[in-house]
Amino acid sequence: MTGKVIVTGAAGFIGSHLCEHLLDKGYRVIGIDSLTDYYSPERKRGHIKQAIGHKGFTLVEEDLNDCDIETLLDETECVFHLAAQAGVRGSWGSEFNHYVSSNIVATQRLLEVLKGHGSIPLVFASSSSVYGDTREIPMREGQSLKPVSPYGATKLSAEHLCELYHINFGLRYVALRYFTVFGPRQRPDMAFSRFITASLGDEPVEVYGEGTQTRDFTYVSDAVAATAQAMLYDGPQRVFNIGGGNRSSILDVLSTIERLIGKKLEIRFDAPAKGDVLDTWADTGRARAELGFEPTVSLETGLEAEIDWYRSHLRVMEGG
Ligand code: UGA
Repeated sequence: MTGKVIVTGAAGFIGSHLCEHLLDKGYRVIGIDSLTDYYSPERKRGHIKQAIGHKGFTLVEEDLNDCDIETLLDETECVFHLAAQAGVRGSWGSEFNHYVSSNIVATQRLLEVLKGHGSIPLVFASSSSVYGDTREIPMREGQSLKPVSPYGATKLSAEHLCELYHINFGLRYVALRYFTVFGPRQRPDMAFSRFITASLGDEPVEVYGEGTQTRDFTYVSDAVAATAQAMLYDGPQRVFNIGGGNRSSILDVLSTIERLIGKKLEIRFDAPAKGDVLDTWADTGRARAELGFEPTVSLETGLEAEIDWYRSHLRVMEGG
């Protein structure tokens, strides 16, 4: 065994893949997850089934806002903080409470505990949504940040909190700005999941806006490799873009899905979603130079893997 690490959000999309990756590398992993019902807790249990079968894995099924984190920290080499209320478009209205509680209050609570353990680094899962609807693309870590969704505002607040604990208490942290991660287990509210399940179920797909918006899509294993690597980073930078280099429009993605599934999609165009940005595109120069980040999975290969996962896990029957 290499050592012990903690992963918050262990049963989530990226968190569950990260746990498996770290277990494969020989780490003991304490996974914390409260299995919120933002989407099916049963589905999340499926995500961590493989990790749970590993002798190096322990699941602490608790909310970070209640959990006694201190008692878990003995001999911990790193805390990966991926637990969050995710989702850009659902962060308006009364739902915002969940975003504040999970993304800001829980992060501050974790930082308060970690400030007494200066040697334990924190790897924080941030988001490309902190940049907002900028024309300055590719996005660079040092540029101005003006999130346009309440979700993005909470992720930026959490980044600021990490920096405050770094300045005042010497806490070591790295914030990774993930750019629209996809692949097996992708959250059901995300575009690819919705498009694939609609297609396999012979339902129309819904496109917000004209479909010309672009995203720098990142395959989950590339995001996970960067996340694990960040634990070992001890240099001067604290924020990194993690983008897969698969920049594509939603219309192009839909054509690729049509080709891969072998079926024409019925597309319904809806109003653009409030809080959505038009384009994302990561400048990954810093992550490449400092973390050795090298994304390897193309949009097409990653989409094939996500489609296969949906076919085998959700047993959605293809129509004729
Ligand atoms: C994603 C994640 O959901 C966030 O948690 C994450 O923080 C963020 O990436 C990020 O990169 O920071 P998003 O880029 O909105 O957010 O990813 P998708 O949900 O996959 O949406 C991509 C695009 O497809 C958006 O423009 C969205 O409006 C569009 N979309 C989504 C549709 O047109 N139809 C749908 O049914 C779903």
